[in-house]
Amino acid sequence: MRITDTADLWWKNAIFYCLDVETFFDSDGDGVGDLAGLAQRIDYLADLGVTCLWLMPVYPTPDRDDGYDVKDFYGIDPRLGSLGDFVEVVRTAKDRGMRVIADIVVNHTSDQHPWFKSARSSRNSPYRDFYVWRDEPPAQQQEVVFPDKEDSVWEYDEKSGQYYLHQFYKHQPDLNVTNPKVRDEIAKAMGFWLELGLSGFRVDAVPFFLATNGVDEHAFTDPHGFLRDLRSFLGRRTGDGILLGEVNLEHADQQRFFGGTDGDELTMLFDFIAMQAMYLSLARADAAPLAKALLDRPGISPDCQWATFVRNHDELTLDKLSDAEREEVFAAFGPEPEMQVYGRGLRRRLPPMLDGDPRRIRMVYSLLFSLPGTPVLFYGEEIGMGENPDVEGRMAVRTPMQWDDGKNGGFSTAAASKLPVPVVEGGYGPAHVNAQAQRRDPESLHSFVSLLMRRYRDCPELGWGAFAVLDQPHAAVLAHTVTWEDACLVALHNLGPEPVSVPLALPDAQEGSRLVDLLAEGSTPLDEKGRVELSLPSYGYRWMRLVAPGDLRLV
Ligand code: NOJ
Repeated sequence: MRITDTADLWWKNAIFYCLDVETFFDSDGDGVGDLAGLAQRIDYLADLGVTCLWLMPVYPTPDRDDGYDVKDFYGIDPRLGSLGDFVEVVRTAKDRGMRVIADIVVNHTSDQHPWFKSARSSRNSPYRDFYVWRDEPPAQQQEVVFPDKEDSVWEYDEKSGQYYLHQFYKHQPDLNVTNPKVRDEIAKAMGFWLELGLSGFRVDAVPFFLATNGVDEHAFTDPHGFLRDLRSFLGRRTGDGILLGEVNLEHADQQRFFGGTDGDELTMLFDFIAMQAMYLSLARADAAPLAKALLDRPGISPDCQWATFVRNHDELTLDKLSDAEREEVFAAFGPEPEMQVYGRGLRRRLPPMLDGDPRRIRMVYSLLFSLPGTPVLFYGEEIGMGENPDVEGRMAVRTPMQWDDGKNGGFSTAAASKLPVPVVEGGYGPAHVNAQAQRRDPESLHSFVSLLMRRYRDCPELGWGAFAVLDQPHAAVLAHTVTWEDACLVALHNLGPEPVSVPLALPDAQEGSRLVDLLAEGSTPLDEKGRVELSLPSYGYRWMRLVAPGDLRLV
């Protein structure tokens, strides 16, 4: 593919930043973050190096699942502002060269959505068939997603005398996507937000809404056809809009959600498998699990993309590891039962998991940005925010953004009791971790993450290229290359505490080539056989560009 063909595929080397408007910045002092506040902080994000915002749900909601319980697909939660404020955010972001995507949650609605209210009011409601009803739950029940709160995915509705399906909480009845009217409504809602300037959606719980559990009376023989339809609808409406899907499945199954190598379903998928393998690698100080996960990624269409991440807004799920592997990660990064959740994950952010060790924290973000794919940050990662363990469940990692060391960490001037989630206290609180101080400090994590973002953008091979592992003798070291056309990044990461000297061979390198460091000064020539020996300190990392004689590339 020629570079001129790649310009429109903005997601291939974007930098995503996920945030919850409610906890980002409160502009009017009522205690709740708002869209006007976000608009004021767009310059901060542009300056950091973000190129695409991902907004967690902004829709009207009873807020029993942090907005993932939507009661109107066409509005804005009044606590966050208005549609006008939303457009201001999108416009301001565009002005700074940034795109915006938002969560779209179509597996279910809130039980307060007018469709469900109507559906449960009578079996003859025109909306009855928007949901999934049964006289009796099936004998074989699927597992619940939130075992701390639910014991069945079927709930009896007294009034209409039938059970409805809810794969998540019982206040989130599943939509019936086998109903063509529901599918049309989903497309219409997407069309609405695209007209307001969104560049696509983070699509919640994709495998759940494609599953036709409990509905056998309708012909819906090709659920993936629905994803194909949505993708082509998006293409028709925007040309370059994307669908970034939440599909936490094994790699082979994920490939189907890309539309195989045709690439006509989801544009991007989070690489949950590599993420989980990375934590296993970190726990063992052994690069092998992560290397294997990346090498095992299935082939995808060149215009599709993997989204790489260290943490997201949910539990750090470890559900795809074996029981023994999960226990290893728990033992290393969350040994106390209260750090764990649902028997499968951790409700912690990265820095506390690594005991606040700045070398390890930086090494992990260096790794993230050097992997093939498009990195996604969760707000506050750039300054090393911790969690608030006193907040229930997954909300522990969704505390207010820490802007400065003042009241409520500069998030809001309201009384602390008015905030949606309490600010982190103690060693990770705003007195020690805040954006204002770190922006002024060239040695801070913020400055380092910003440097990684610039280097990532300098290296299109990271978005487009092929991954390979270089042979070397240290189990703790990941030595990898990402190569695209004539560009090649060589990266080294030491997952262990022992300083090492790493012999490498790049036999295909042109004679006279050298490795130019990208995160530090200096360059190292390869010998006539393409060999080189490089040192790495304890938990060290290096990014190097392979530069041939006469190469005019700016490094
Ligand atoms: C996935 C979201 O990431 C999670 O936060 C939410 O609770 C469930 N979907 C249900 O909507």
